[in-house]
Amino acid sequence: MGVDYPLLYDPHRLEQLRIFTDAGRPVSLVGTILSDVTLLGCQTRIASVGSVCTDPRARGHGLAGQLVDDAVQRAAEAGASLMLISGHRTLYARRGGVEAGLFRRYHVFVRDLTSPTDGLTLRTVTPETCDQALRLFEAEPARFRRDLADYAKQIACERVMNRPGHTWLVERQGRPMALFSADHPRAGDGGGPATIQIRELAGCRLSLIRALPLAARELGADAFAIDAYEFDRSLEEALKDIVRWDSMPHTGVVKLLDPARLWRDFKPLIAERIGAEALGRISVRSESDDLRVHALTFEMGGEILTFDSPEDLTAALLGHPNHKPLINARGSLADILHKALPLPLPMYGLNYV
Ligand SMILES: CC(C)(COP(=O)(O)OP(=O)(O)OC[C@H]1O[C@@H](n2cnc3c(N)ncnc32)[C@H](O)[C@@H]1OP(=O)(O)O)[C@@H](O)C(=O)NCCC(=O)NCCS
Repeated sequence: MGVDYPLLYDPHRLEQLRIFTDAGRPVSLVGTILSDVTLLGCQTRIASVGSVCTDPRARGHGLAGQLVDDAVQRAAEAGASLMLISGHRTLYARRGGVEAGLFRRYHVFVRDLTSPTDGLTLRTVTPETCDQALRLFEAEPARFRRDLADYAKQIACERVMNRPGHTWLVERQGRPMALFSADHPRAGDGGGPATIQIRELAGCRLSLIRALPLAARELGADAFAIDAYEFDRSLEEALKDIVRWDSMPHTGVVKLLDPARLWRDFKPLIAERIGAEALGRISVRSESDDLRVHALTFEMGGEILTFDSPEDLTAALLGHPNHKPLINARGSLADILHKALPLPLPMYGLNYV
């Protein structure tokens, strides 16, 4: 796992790994990375939890549960507003980890990519050339903040999320135009087309789509599945007429750590959506203990809206493709919240743990 997840297993950041030992031998592990993300102009801190495992002989004694609780407490103390956990399990559901977020997966067949490649070239990004690639991220509206040293480690491990893969730079006459991180082609369930999964992208969407046949030829793929933000209109437009897409929540589960902090971090965006005056009239409070948010209440001029299940309160704040707890709410507070929410979540991409 150290080879596949170099940032989590960084010898200089060992405090990210918390273990139980039995007679000096590690028997249970939970890894947590704290990251700052910028989302539509706002910055918040998130904790990404992964590498959750317990030695088979030590399972069922609450070790992983205690380590997840420990991760929650430490992340909240370190100023994180949200936790992303890379898995679906009762272990996380019991702690308020639920599906949330609004993303899309575009399904593209190579045979439908008929636009000319038009002078674009493609090359894989290496740790030595990743500075050019990183610059393309600066203009992205939603991204993990990464420095060059960390990005070089992510590139060097040749993994894209939890699969072998590469990052590709699309260039026109040596000028970086776009980039994407994608795994190696694999057949779908039941032997479907050989599909490359794109987990992260940046730069000009039109250039990226035009360059896809080059990647398909080099890797021997028939199709692409492209994960993207729901708000990415440039990608939507570049792919219109040739693809179908599915709505999906965030990969894994999302746990709210501190809704008030999240609301505060996103105030500049919310003020743009509903106006500073309306924002000033809304108060947000949560009922929480050290480990879990039990209820979230919005209040405005005597009107009150309370969400009291993890599914409802998380989907109200962060959206969900199928679960829309605000949909039946009526009144001026509900009208304003419809405009203010949902807040964006980051896609894992290379920051998956
Ligand atoms: C998933 C995994 C990490 C759980 O580790 P664990 O240390 O056994 O976890 P816990 O003991 O905290 O919880 C396991 C279950 O035992 C139960 N449990 C905890 N303490 C208990 C106790 N004292 N008595 C009886 N049951 C108990 C928990 O309620 C939990 O039930 P749930 O799964 O229905 O929520 C472990 O099974 C594992 O390593 N699996 C393989 C790797 C993996 O799948 N990792 C997760 C990736 S998302």
